[in-house]
Amino acid sequence: MHQSHPSRVTALGSRKEQNPISALTAYDYPTAKILDENGIDLILVGDSLGMVVLGHEDTTSVTIEMMTHHTSACRSAINHAALVADLPYKSYETPEQAVITSNSLVISGADGVKLEGGSEIIPQITAIRGAGIPVIGHIGFLPQSIKVEGNYKKKGKDSVEYSKILSDAMSLEKAGVSAVVLESIVSDLALEITTSLEIPTIGIGSGNDCDGQIRVIHDITGGFPWFTPPFAKPLCNIADEVSSAVQKYKESI
Ligand code: KIV
Repeated sequence: MHQSHPSRVTALGSRKEQNPISALTAYDYPTAKILDENGIDLILVGDSLGMVVLGHEDTTSVTIEMMTHHTSACRSAINHAALVADLPYKSYETPEQAVITSNSLVISGADGVKLEGGSEIIPQITAIRGAGIPVIGHIGFLPQSIKVEGNYKKKGKDSVEYSKILSDAMSLEKAGVSAVVLESIVSDLALEITTSLEIPTIGIGSGNDCDGQIRVIHDITGGFPWFTPPFAKPLCNIADEVSSAVQKYKESI
């Protein structure tokens, strides 16, 4: 069993008026170590693992075994950041199942867990919090619903959807989440949620007015050149660097 540090996640809850929260995904030891050494506040073992590491079409085939395997690799690398792991698809159908799945991530070294959804998963969040495990919420576009949604889309464009996401954000805060990820929502809504909540918001594809930002590591390094989301801005091109090293190696043989 790995040591976990729940207070590193709950401490994010008091970061509202301070520096923006920096968050990135990692799935392995070397990446997590580089992020930790560079002062990233929150390292997420996201279920994006399925796509950017395992080559699956979407996140719905990710299992709890995959998540615990990669969480444990990241744990060994991290000394400062909060390490949060995603509850994968269909692993939190009931409050009881949510606690069992969250516990297995904590045993693998997670300091807290993140799960997708709004008011419909409040019983699960309450149960996980009751087990002493910090929770990060995730609303807006929900990648685990891709099969129902059909494709990736911006959320909150119409007034019904806007109000539902706003009220979900408030329900999550009331249920005791430490922070909430806002994925692909219109920037006006992200701003309204950010000013309405006392907990921090962490945006991805939701404009610049959140209390922090999160990205899939491959989207900032150019490490998955076959698909780059519209909001991603690669800051280097690691795939080209690796190709060039591979060519040099071949020529050197
Ligand atoms: O799985 C993931 O990578 C996420 C994003 C919000 C970064 O949930």
